[in-house]
Amino acid sequence: MYEPAYDPARLTEIKRREDASFAAARPRSLALWNRGKRSMPNGVPMSWLRTSYDHPPLFISEGEGARFRDVDGNEYSDFNIADMSMFGGYAPPPVVKAVSRRVAQGSQFLLPNEDGVWVAEELSRRYALPKWQFTLSATHANTEAIRVARELTGRDTVVMFDGKYHGHFDEALVRLDAQGRIVPEEGGLPRDVSTRTRLVRFNDPGALRAALEPRDVAIVLTEPALTNNVGLLLPEPGFHEALRAATRETSTVLAYDETHTQVVGPGGLTRLWKLDPDIVTTGKSIASGVPLGAYGMTEAVAGALEEPAGTRNGKRVVATGGTLFGNPLSMAAARATMAEVLTGETYEHTQALGGRLADGIEGAIRSAGLPWTAHRFWPRSGVTFAATMPRDAREGYENLDVPLRRALRVHLANRGVWDAIVGAGPTVPVPADQTDVDRYVEAFSSFVRELAS
Ligand SMILES: Cc1ncc(COP(=O)(O)O)c(C=O)c1O
Repeated sequence: MYEPAYDPARLTEIKRREDASFAAARPRSLALWNRGKRSMPNGVPMSWLRTSYDHPPLFISEGEGARFRDVDGNEYSDFNIADMSMFGGYAPPPVVKAVSRRVAQGSQFLLPNEDGVWVAEELSRRYALPKWQFTLSATHANTEAIRVARELTGRDTVVMFDGKYHGHFDEALVRLDAQGRIVPEEGGLPRDVSTRTRLVRFNDPGALRAALEPRDVAIVLTEPALTNNVGLLLPEPGFHEALRAATRETSTVLAYDETHTQVVGPGGLTRLWKLDPDIVTTGKSIASGVPLGAYGMTEAVAGALEEPAGTRNGKRVVATGGTLFGNPLSMAAARATMAEVLTGETYEHTQALGGRLADGIEGAIRSAGLPWTAHRFWPRSGVTFAATMPRDAREGYENLDVPLRRALRVHLANRGVWDAIVGAGPTVPVPADQTDVDRYVEAFSSFVRELAS
């Protein structure tokens, strides 16, 4: 049972003071928000831009490198980096150049170009999967991976791990309730949404085997480590081997979603941990925030998409694709990103700064005498408000302490630091330097000092 290690009245006091300073320093954002409310639900172009935060939304003027500025002129060192989609930083010059050129030369033809071939080849090299397809988002890459797996296996059910996030599509918007029943996660979903998904607790190979045993599962979709929703859930030794063995035994497709975990290095955790999936899905930072999703697959999986010559009529074609999928603009951005921004060297730089961030967070919680845990996840570091890391979503939700995270976020924002939204913690983006990391650590330290005093 989670017990806060601080005085809740002190937290309320800090939050009230910080909320007042936040609003006072952002009159232009507030005015734009009020204007936006007349033409958009919640006053923003997409509801999450309001609902992801409990403070008023910031309206942005520009970003460069690891920092951005709001319309009131406040500057932030950014550790959320648009929920990982701007890991390469804002306006990286090679991407600006490639995208500008592509727009000037025509950005969409509904025909392929050479950049698409280059990007598929590079992803094949990074993830050791030979064939690739493209969408406009990671959500859509996951949706298509499921369709392909259903076509291959002739089965309907999808297995995921409780505490996952893979995008806003029906099969993924379910969770386990306190009694272990599968229930819809949000509104607007069909009443039978829970019937095609089976949810298993992370790090429970026995439950996984039981879920696959009826041999009606098309695909297991998971991140190699769960980084969204419930903090960071790391796999225990042997978990991925058990997952691969169980999916092989039951002829189930295994897909790793590297949308977030790709920040650990080229080829993500698939390469680092020598994982052996049938499909890898990704998106977000691969094209520096220009919309692009991708999924890679083995030759056997690709067979479901490849039509034998001359048999198009009469052959079932898997329902994939969209008018703008794989467009030359996204491909130009992805090529420049992988060739010049997300290179081996830059990953090493962010990992070193990620270590510095974790050291700083750890030092701050030790000095304040708080029984919390700092974690290290390559460029991503963070804090669990408990003495040990959670093993599964049940433990993760228990320690989440939303009021504490909200107070920390607004305290940091008022000191020029933009914190990660809920998940595996702040990420050091490629163009960040020691000044950014030290700014985070200083602001975090002053928060925990005041909280614990
Ligand atoms: C692991 C993972 N997969 C997929 C997605 C969906 O990405 P998008 O919203 O860009 O489609 C997310 C988004 O947070 C994610 O964290």
